[in-house]
Amino acid sequence: MERLERDVVVIGAGATGLTAAVRLQQAGHSVVVLEARDRVGGRLWSDHIDGQLYEIGGQWVSPDQTVLLETLDELGLDTYARYREGESVYIGADGAPKRFTGDIFPANEHTRSEIERMIGVLDELVQQTDPAAPWEQPRAAEFDHISFKAWLEQQCDDAEARANIALFIADAMLTKPAHSFSLLQALLMAASAGSFSHLVDADFILDKRVIGGLQQVPLKLAEQLRAGDLRLSQPVRRIKWSTAALAADAVDGEVVEVVTDELVVNARRVIVAVPPNLYNRIEYAPNLPRLRQQLQQHQSLGLVIKVHATYETAFWREDGLSATAFSPYQIVHEAYDNTNYGESRGTLVGFISDEKADAVFQMPAEERKRSILNSLASYYGPQALEPVVYYESDWAAEEWTQGAYAASFDLGGLTRYGALQLEPVGPLRFGSSDLAAEGYQHVDGAIRVGRRLAAETADTLARQSMSERSAHGTFVEGVIA
Ligand code: FDA
Repeated sequence: MERLERDVVVIGAGATGLTAAVRLQQAGHSVVVLEARDRVGGRLWSDHIDGQLYEIGGQWVSPDQTVLLETLDELGLDTYARYREGESVYIGADGAPKRFTGDIFPANEHTRSEIERMIGVLDELVQQTDPAAPWEQPRAAEFDHISFKAWLEQQCDDAEARANIALFIADAMLTKPAHSFSLLQALLMAASAGSFSHLVDADFILDKRVIGGLQQVPLKLAEQLRAGDLRLSQPVRRIKWSTAALAADAVDGEVVEVVTDELVVNARRVIVAVPPNLYNRIEYAPNLPRLRQQLQQHQSLGLVIKVHATYETAFWREDGLSATAFSPYQIVHEAYDNTNYGESRGTLVGFISDEKADAVFQMPAEERKRSILNSLASYYGPQALEPVVYYESDWAAEEWTQGAYAASFDLGGLTRYGALQLEPVGPLRFGSSDLAAEGYQHVDGAIRVGRRLAAETADTLARQSMSERSAHGTFVEGVIA
């Protein structure tokens, strides 16, 4: 086993872990990043499939994601707008495609007015919800104990309006059925993006992409680390720390041992920058405290298949369509023009969430592809049936993610455990986009969490150095140093 010593071990080379590692290194601390996969980026990943570049994971940037936008600027990465000229398509309960412009679907008058009313109701509740502490919402307990679906049924008598409002949070964001998460969890999702209206507005929430792909953020961050400070293919198996570290303010003499199959790293602090559903892939000695072990069982990732289909031309554009398409009744509940910057071929991207994804995963691959393409054809016509390249991003099959897009709590979990998830355990701190406030579940949130974890860790290390030096009685420039 190779042995290393560092101030901080960062577990996970996603946007969170790499942001934290680069910041700590810039602050003068020695760091090593241990990554299970043979690549950096985690849920950000661009790859060529049959010669076509696809963003298999995260890709879009919205205007409220100011920390991500700042990071893109720092890293010298340029963005371009998602193609959105022309009409959108909506398929209602009758199965007929209808063209429309704007945000509100072309349903009947009552359904439309109910959708608009519910957006207003949700916007007001979101205003009262701090994404950094949703458990402090004035009606937090009540809102965390009712499913989003049940609450919508209480509020609105129009099934199509309910299906559409549910779609924005359930299928499109948390990628879980609306009966499986609470109203409070839905409010957190919307509050993290500024408002519920923002989630409804595809031109806002899916505004821009990065030329060359969003995975360049972690790739460029990784380039900033010193040689040897990023170790790939190193799944962390075990973290051992002293029980004294569990006492409040116990900073002296804490030494942590982080073990992979090939490495043993001794450090003073550890940042576990992996999604919460994977915390239990690591053995902790001693065990994590009782409530931490409990809380981790109440957070789970959703499930979505991101489907990419490339055609010789963006044929929908000639037909006056933007390719923006929605339907709570289709297998593919939302789809967009996802043509890469400067390419002449046209690419569509579509999403299949939660129980619909379960259903298509029951099918043999060819039948699944046919069903998905049929759903795309319902929006764009028969030309959608014959892509030249086709690919399904299947994150649930990825050992080091196990779902998409991110984690959320089950009913009641947010008020019961939400605040606790942010607490350190001795020398360990946990974080990822799944624990973000602004930018929750997004790359912006990952970077915010990475920055926060780096600042908190640097602060603890500085206090530890001060107390160690004070124990040795050295004074420099009037302060204990
Ligand atoms: P992330 O999961 O990326 O990183 C954790 C890392 O830890 C991984 O590299 C993993 O391999 C590693 N790891 C796990 N266990 C380990 C262990 N025991 N030892 C060592 N390493 C370990 N966001 C957005 O802003 N815009 C978008 O358009 C989208 N769209 C989107 C689509 C799809 C299909 C997905 C899957 C996700 C998105 N997202 C998104 C979400 C976004 O990609 C995500 O929130 C962030 O990339 C998460 O970054 P983190 O670093 O927090 O976790």
